[in-house]
Amino acid sequence: MSAVYHLPEPGGSEFEPTSAEWLARDEAALAGVLPRITDVVAVRGMGSWLWDADGRRYLDFGSGIAVTNTGHCHPKVVAAITAQAETLIHTSVVAHPTGMIRLAERLAGLVPFMADPQVFFCNSGAEAVDGSLKLARRATGKPGVIAFRRAFHGRTLAATSLTTAKGKYREGYEPLLPSVTIAPYGDLDGLDELLTLQAPGVNIGAMIVEPVLGEGGYVVPPLSWLAGLRERCDRHGMLLIFDEVQTGVGRTGRPFAAETFGVAPDVVLFAKGIASGLPLGGIIASRDLMDRWPTGAHGSTFGGNPVSCAAALATLDVLEEEGCYERARRLGSRAVERLGAVPGPVDVRGVGLMIGVELRDKTVAEAVQARCLDDGLIVLLCGPGENVLRLIPPLTITDADFEHGLDIIVAAIAATV
Ligand SMILES: Cc1ncc(COP(=O)(O)O)c(C=O)c1O
Repeated sequence: MSAVYHLPEPGGSEFEPTSAEWLARDEAALAGVLPRITDVVAVRGMGSWLWDADGRRYLDFGSGIAVTNTGHCHPKVVAAITAQAETLIHTSVVAHPTGMIRLAERLAGLVPFMADPQVFFCNSGAEAVDGSLKLARRATGKPGVIAFRRAFHGRTLAATSLTTAKGKYREGYEPLLPSVTIAPYGDLDGLDELLTLQAPGVNIGAMIVEPVLGEGGYVVPPLSWLAGLRERCDRHGMLLIFDEVQTGVGRTGRPFAAETFGVAPDVVLFAKGIASGLPLGGIIASRDLMDRWPTGAHGSTFGGNPVSCAAALATLDVLEEEGCYERARRLGSRAVERLGAVPGPVDVRGVGLMIGVELRDKTVAEAVQARCLDDGLIVLLCGPGENVLRLIPPLTITDADFEHGLDIIVAAIAATV
């Protein structure tokens, strides 16, 4: 069943500021530390499209960085948010809001690889990462953590300590969390050497890994490597934490990448796409593990607030009702096949609707990105060299819009490479 949207008002008018005027105000009012990828001044979103303050529309292959998996302002999500906002917005831990219970039950049904799952809710990916480190310490009594080279886990100090996607994320912030060992991504021999020489399992409580490297370049690891991590964790009594902040909520063609790859982590972290743009994150682990995290040992004022939970329940409905898991797999294969046949890219890879198109260098990638934007397509870059086009359209995107976006990318690569 396809969604019915309200048609947008044209953006920009003689009464509204132009994009240029907004950008000047933005520059004056907002802290410059926050990077922005484009100069698009967004005033409206609908499905896979964004409108700027001048009335120009863009096909959005960035999805607010893998968040608007149901597209912008999906009517079902908007209706759920509106209804909830009229009923109950917030209680925090003062009470038991029912949406949180319903959502936890629903999420438990999406992790078939985990026995007796329970959920802790927070507000963002980085908070989920931080929380999982605290859970691992309390549950194992071991403070050490292994993370992987080129990973991105977020911006808090603990998540920054695990992040090596780019030097700029760490620059100026040392000293970071002690007892973090960075292992090579996708290399079991390198990991074994670290476990032998530098980070013995008796010191390490957890390994945290992105099942597909996100910011680090959209790298899909060999399945045998993920299975090998599971085996090492079992052998050394370490928890295997899958950071599914980006790969979760259908992105890889199943609710979670753990299912896509058939490897069962002890802990799954989610955020980004779960509530279609409202802040929500969380930690899923078996009851057995959660029972080792005493009541009051962690918490959150806003985590799992009723409006975000209502948005999340509607998001999961939309993903199921509109066949988005299957669509992610089908369109992703289509993109790899089509872009893989184009001369120019060094590599085209991905799983589900998480596609990386590696170009020669940053200069080429930025030129392709700029050309796409000129032609009305928003596309992001990733990788330490910022030379990988990163395609993460909404999972609700129509076949026609998706092909249109690929047409723009193919033309931009042909014109640039
Ligand atoms: C894999 C992964 N983990 C954690 C985060 C941090 O999420 P947030 O920005 O919601 O804190 C991100 C954000 O890009 C991410 O991609």
